[in-house]
Amino acid sequence: MLQIKSAIAKNIVDKLKSINPQIELTECDVAGMLEYPPDSKMGDLALPCFKMSKTLRMAPVKIASLIAEGFSAPCVERAEAVNGYFNIFLDGGALAKKVVSEIDEKGEKYGAPDIGKGKTVVLDYSSPNVAKPFHIGHLGTTVIGHSLKMLHEFAGYKCVGINYLGDWGTQFGKLIVAYRKWGNKELIEDGGIDKLVELYVKFHEAAEADASLNDEARAEFHKLEEGDSENIALWQWFVEISLAEYKKTYKQLGIEFDSYKGESFYTDKMPAEVQKLRDMGLMKIDDGASIVDLEEYGMPPCLILKRDGSTLYPTRDIAAAVYRKNTYDFDKAIYVTSAGQSLHFAQWFKVVELMGYDWHDKLVHVPYGTVSINGEKLATRTGNVILLRDLFALAIEKISDIMNEKNPHLEGKDKIAEEIGVGAVVFYYLSNNRIRDINFVMDDALNFEGNTGPYVQYTYARTCSVLAKTEGEAKGELKISAPEEVELLKTLSKFEETVRDAIDTYEPSVITRYILDVAGAFNRFYHNCTILGADDADVKSTRIALTRAANTVLGNAFGLICLAKTQKV
Ligand code: ARG
Repeated sequence: MLQIKSAIAKNIVDKLKSINPQIELTECDVAGMLEYPPDSKMGDLALPCFKMSKTLRMAPVKIASLIAEGFSAPCVERAEAVNGYFNIFLDGGALAKKVVSEIDEKGEKYGAPDIGKGKTVVLDYSSPNVAKPFHIGHLGTTVIGHSLKMLHEFAGYKCVGINYLGDWGTQFGKLIVAYRKWGNKELIEDGGIDKLVELYVKFHEAAEADASLNDEARAEFHKLEEGDSENIALWQWFVEISLAEYKKTYKQLGIEFDSYKGESFYTDKMPAEVQKLRDMGLMKIDDGASIVDLEEYGMPPCLILKRDGSTLYPTRDIAAAVYRKNTYDFDKAIYVTSAGQSLHFAQWFKVVELMGYDWHDKLVHVPYGTVSINGEKLATRTGNVILLRDLFALAIEKISDIMNEKNPHLEGKDKIAEEIGVGAVVFYYLSNNRIRDINFVMDDALNFEGNTGPYVQYTYARTCSVLAKTEGEAKGELKISAPEEVELLKTLSKFEETVRDAIDTYEPSVITRYILDVAGAFNRFYHNCTILGADDADVKSTRIALTRAANTVLGNAFGLICLAKTQKV
């Protein structure tokens, strides 16, 4: 649709210039002003002429009717002026030719905006804290982050996905103390991350009664920082065990990271940045701690060093950003975390700016809202959490039950149930505007009849099954004969601008909404138009071509939000 829009915009500008050569309006301005009317009776595209009326010193009604006079453009059937709007009706046949041939030609690349060539994006996402549970609160950073990676990759950016593991900090002191008190090798080898988390929870319970445990933990962490070989070995082992568990979940989601450099990696990279802050006179001592005062910018101070000289979360983020800039020379560095960390990011982004790093404006924080399950909030310390692993397992189990009823003889049922179950959770989560808090209701996510993952995956499988029956079918002339065909075509043609919108706003929900539009348009077409049994050979081949086009677009869009292209359901 972008090409059609720009051709129309060009003709509109020509028209306006022929009336008044002084007019300063570009094709791009006008293309950006073209809207999709809510009701197709008002056209497939419309140009509201109200804003222009000031610059053109002419009434909107007059502008619209001047443009409408003898207007023509590719793919346009007719156009009319109504109450200050210039309404454009597209020609179904011409649209079909253009859209279907473009989709067939570009295939897996259809819908990809050509905006990222030669540019690098670094994405910091998922980044769980080792030995703490990988719970539903991490779903957001993991799937939003990965979706943003896929979107950028699709647009031609070189992407580096970084899992900035929380693999350093006082929690390791606690874990070491707890392990020596209550754990042993076999226990952890058999029980894995669950046992580590149990030890962590147990530590907190015990420390409530006996505060000296916290001192012990601090001392063990200090030893770790000093390079004590026993503590280092334990720490490495804890990290390995945790990572093995996370990777199972990533595999289910089809996620791979390009780097697992966690917080510990930056230990020796911080002193240089701290020194730079000191040399530039940006740091001051406040109650023994070193801070950067940000009052002028309406923010509380950014903490750089604690009273005992140890570094903090912002210190590490600053050092990591410098390292990544030097290593990857990024054009954008995206950080996906809960909105609870928005201030942290705003603060250290400002510090990076004050340090004179001219790439500070390439840092982007992408926040998201909280998740609760059936209204319950989650807390790590008490162990009251829903693990991502268990959430997926439950979804898969429920989908298996549904499938056993619906289609008990389906081949490869287990794999399909996994794809649909995991997809259901992901799609449900990504259907929301990321910043909104969501309450997870499993039965809603799994409903095949709702606006859900199972529904759209089922629709995709439906396109596959139509196409499987048509192999070798000769291509005929494209012949449009029903409004549902045109509606489907129009929806398919909007893919590229939708992808751009999702990238511009860092919002995967733009894609889930679009997938629902395509699925809806395809299902209306499927129910109202006979495909394989159509009498007219051209009508039949057109409908097959439309099914293929829908299959390509759905498949491409699924790839952008971690949804598997399941061919049979
Ligand atoms: N590990 C942190 C947490 O779980 C998230 C890290 C986000 N990334 C960053 N560069 N700060 O809260």
